[in-house]
Amino acid sequence: MTLPKPSSLSLLLLLLLGAAHAEDPYHFHTWNVKYATLSPLGTPEQVITINDQFPGPRINGTSNNNIIVNIFNHLDEPVLFTWNGIQQRKNSWQEGLPGTNCPILPGTNMTYKFQVKDQIGSYYYYPSTSLHRATGGYGPITVHSRELIPVPYDFPEAEHIALVGDWYTKPLPDLLKLLDSGRSLGRPDGVVINGKGGKMEKNPNPKEEPMFTMLPGKTYRYRFCNVGMKNSINVRFQKHAMKLVEIEGSHTVQNIYDSLDVHLGQCYSVLVTADQGPGDYYLIASTRFTKEVLTATALVRYAGGKSPPPPAMPEAPVGWGWSLNQFRSQRWNLTASAARPNPQGSYHYGKINITRTIKIVNSAGAVDGRLRYAINGMSHANPETPLKLAEYFGVADKVFKYNLIKDDPGEVPEKITVAPDVVNATYRNFVEIVFENPEKSVQTWHLAGYSFFAVAIEPGKWTPARRSNYNLLDAVSRNTIQVYPGCWAAIMLTLDNAGMWNLRAGSTERTYLGQQLYFSVLSPELSLRDEYNLPDDQLLCGIVKDMPRPKLYSI
Ligand SMILES: *[C@@H]1O[C@H](CO)[C@@H](O)[C@H](O)[C@H]1NC(C)=O
Ligand SMILES: *[C@@H]1O[C@H](CO)[C@@H](O)[C@H](O)[C@H]1NC(C)=O
Ligand SMILES: *[C@@H]1O[C@H](CO)[C@@H](O)[C@H](O)[C@H]1NC(C)=O
Ligand SMILES: *[C@@H]1O[C@H](CO)[C@@H](O)[C@H](O)[C@H]1NC(C)=O
Ligand SMILES: *[C@@H]1O[C@H](CO)[C@@H](O)[C@H](O)[C@H]1NC(C)=O
Repeated sequence: MTLPKPSSLSLLLLLLLGAAHAEDPYHFHTWNVKYATLSPLGTPEQVITINDQFPGPRINGTSNNNIIVNIFNHLDEPVLFTWNGIQQRKNSWQEGLPGTNCPILPGTNMTYKFQVKDQIGSYYYYPSTSLHRATGGYGPITVHSRELIPVPYDFPEAEHIALVGDWYTKPLPDLLKLLDSGRSLGRPDGVVINGKGGKMEKNPNPKEEPMFTMLPGKTYRYRFCNVGMKNSINVRFQKHAMKLVEIEGSHTVQNIYDSLDVHLGQCYSVLVTADQGPGDYYLIASTRFTKEVLTATALVRYAGGKSPPPPAMPEAPVGWGWSLNQFRSQRWNLTASAARPNPQGSYHYGKINITRTIKIVNSAGAVDGRLRYAINGMSHANPETPLKLAEYFGVADKVFKYNLIKDDPGEVPEKITVAPDVVNATYRNFVEIVFENPEKSVQTWHLAGYSFFAVAIEPGKWTPARRSNYNLLDAVSRNTIQVYPGCWAAIMLTLDNAGMWNLRAGSTERTYLGQQLYFSVLSPELSLRDEYNLPDDQLLCGIVKDMPRPKLYSI
């Protein structure tokens, strides 16, 4: 252990005080979370709102800003919020998942404090408890580049955010009853764009209000995230092409697309120029890979334009081959600046030796006659004591067992076991995770705490020889990856963020029924350089509720 230099002493003192860094600006938010009656698909239902808004308010800032969110829970149930894509460096305390945090009880409040360290890009938050996400509570997070760091495109006239996703109109208790009684949620009832399910009309309603406006000739950034429950969504505009500029925090090679597949949990930014005749146009979002295509439209109006949208609706592509080709066309811009003052490609991930390969195979099956989803035969269940707290307080053995699944599951057992699923991982290892999807539906995966290189998606089964298919040069660094039916996908990353990190299915129903696990990545030196101590105001519950709070880490 080395003594800190005087210049870094103040920083270390701040580290001791918590995650927030005084030198970077703060954004304070107070959220009142409650149910309200709204009609996303035209009929009134209970929707979770934040400060009476659905989608919830935007969290917006610049790399390294501190975000403070004081959340008042006015629901009649415990709730947690997670910040999907925010890496929470050294700070899984702020992750807001049942495996890391005790829930905010009804009628109480709790404050999240985190820094958007060395990140830029488009993300979102959502309630991670129960199936709350099915009834709203989600909203956008946008992180801008610091002023001195060049961005590889001209500053757009303005930004528009489009949170798209499929939607169920059934009340939450009915949805829960379906899953808890061992069935699936079935088909969603529609698609919403920013909580609205406007549907394209043969004879457009002249009174329809625009969701987005553009000035003729100007260029706008649209940030798309799929915050839905079950399906991939294709987005496209009438008569306007999209120039892709960002995927989940990475500047991409700026390809032009007529339509874009946004799989569950994913975020993309595109630039759209208002280069058509002044008038109205539709933005269209529709489900992919479904028998019946569900569609929503949102009106985009050129300021001062009067003509109604053109009658022709561009169709979504069909099949997943198109989607796979689109994935392959998406590349990292190696010369663009990252969130830190260095080019994105200065970290040569393709030259690092792999220290561990973990194969993840999804499956569906029945346990005691009830539907469960699993990873390598193990279906995750959250214990009452959050995993991270159990581990920190030294009582992990009373709450869960490490390493119930194998890195190479071989033939995945048909029998599914339900238990907390925690994989022990070594800090700073460079790992390869291979996802194999033997099922008929597209899977998407999100890994919390990291950005990884999405190096391949290919048909068939993975073998070590398939590494020759990897993009070891300019794969996009991101936090989600899709896996088409009968395909495999591979990601690579350095486990350089200590904490308890969730790997989960993009499908909320699958996550709820067990298709997720946690990676425990611990700092072997017990150093504050690697991980923060339990915050003093962290809620405690389960078996650690009344235990004295340890301070595991020191300088
Ligand atoms: C978001 O933050 C950026 C950077 O701080 C700022 O330039 C922009 O005006 C903000 N946008 C909104 C809508 O608050
Ligand atoms: C609850 O809100 C009050 C009032 O804003 C604040 O002073 C207090 O710190 C909050 N409590 C927690 C645990 O965040
Ligand atoms: C990549 O970024 C550089 C540096 O900002 C920019 O000049 C270039 O146009 C970008 N390349 C592509 C293909 O988008
Ligand atoms: C990677 O592995 C190869 C072969 O085992 C070895 O020769 C090389 O030194 C290793 N490289 C690094 C950077 O560790
Ligand atoms: C987890 O891994 C670390 C480092 O590889 C090891 O020291 C530790 O004993 C492991 N813990 C468990 C519970 O397997």
